[in-house]
Amino acid sequence: MPLTTKKTRIVVIGVGAVGSTTAYTLLLRERMDELVLIDANQEKAVGDALDMNHGLPFLGQSKVWAGTYEDCKGADIIIITAGAAQRPGESRIDLLKRNVAIYESITSEVLKYNTDGILLIASNPVDIMSYFTLKKSGWPAKRIIGSGTLLDSARFRYLIGEELKIDSRSVHAHIIGEHGDSELPLWSLANIAGTELSISGEVKDRIFANTRDAAYQIIKAKGATYYAIALALDRICTAILHNEAAVLNVSTLLDDYHGVSGVYLGVPCIVDRDGIRDVLKLNISDSEKEMLQSSAAKLKEIIESIAL
Ligand code: NAI
Ligand code: 2OP
Repeated sequence: MPLTTKKTRIVVIGVGAVGSTTAYTLLLRERMDELVLIDANQEKAVGDALDMNHGLPFLGQSKVWAGTYEDCKGADIIIITAGAAQRPGESRIDLLKRNVAIYESITSEVLKYNTDGILLIASNPVDIMSYFTLKKSGWPAKRIIGSGTLLDSARFRYLIGEELKIDSRSVHAHIIGEHGDSELPLWSLANIAGTELSISGEVKDRIFANTRDAAYQIIKAKGATYYAIALALDRICTAILHNEAAVLNVSTLLDDYHGVSGVYLGVPCIVDRDGIRDVLKLNISDSEKEMLQSSAAKLKEIIESIAL
């Protein structure tokens, strides 16, 4: 009997700055057998696929093509990065109405062809777009993952590492809550190999402000952020495809998480082949709980105002 092994397929919907960088990162790291690129601007997807295919002699055996929604059939992961992006001075929430309209059509198409994959949401405001996708799809929340505060936590760890002259991979520190202006730093749990950080309150405030406002700074400088988010999305895909049970600060539907329910927010989650296996309940301080609750209240108010 011939040996048949299922090919791993990732679909990237929206190959603008974030989507094409993510696709390229996944390709460089040889994460999948098949990579499908979809965009409303079909020419851009075709051009990207051609360009990446011309690099294959320097890489592995992945197949890359500009596809249609039908190619979502059998896909392991569908990453959605399509939609409007912030212009200088705009907040992520300012994108909401435009991106909900775009997601209406994208999710309708995806759901025609795929019922058992994992949807990885990156478009902003990512927590609300993930919640929207959950409601629209009727899929279990564990298979709809927002990139959440994984990127913010990376920025936070980088800045702490720079301050203390320690490799950021050895810095354990979390940003949770909204991927946006109401996110919060968990200073009470931040550590390096279990030791407390020797950073003054003033420096902590500066590090957090630079973390929270990083996207504004980068968008002002060059129009968009894409390298670090591409690596963050690659990290989530790897945790899924390798069944890692890795702990990542992604956005998920909270259920009585320090008093917060019924909203997607970034918190440490165990990510494996089935998506989100579990959420880690952190032992955070009372003031951090209050900040988390107010981040949730802000998003809930917005969700209610547009009747999602
Ligand atoms: P971009 O403007 O470069 O790319 C957006 C792409 O979406 C374009 O290629 C466009 O043709 C495509 N598109 C628009 N409507 C579509 C539709 N109906 N179907 C298929 N494709 C469609 O924007 P960029 O910089 O790539 O950002 C994309 C999204 O990712 C934005 O919402 C941005 O805010 C978000 N983002 C999220 C991050 C995160 O941490 N979650 C980090 C960086 C960006
Ligand atoms: C970022 O944080 C804009 O959400 C995007 O880079």
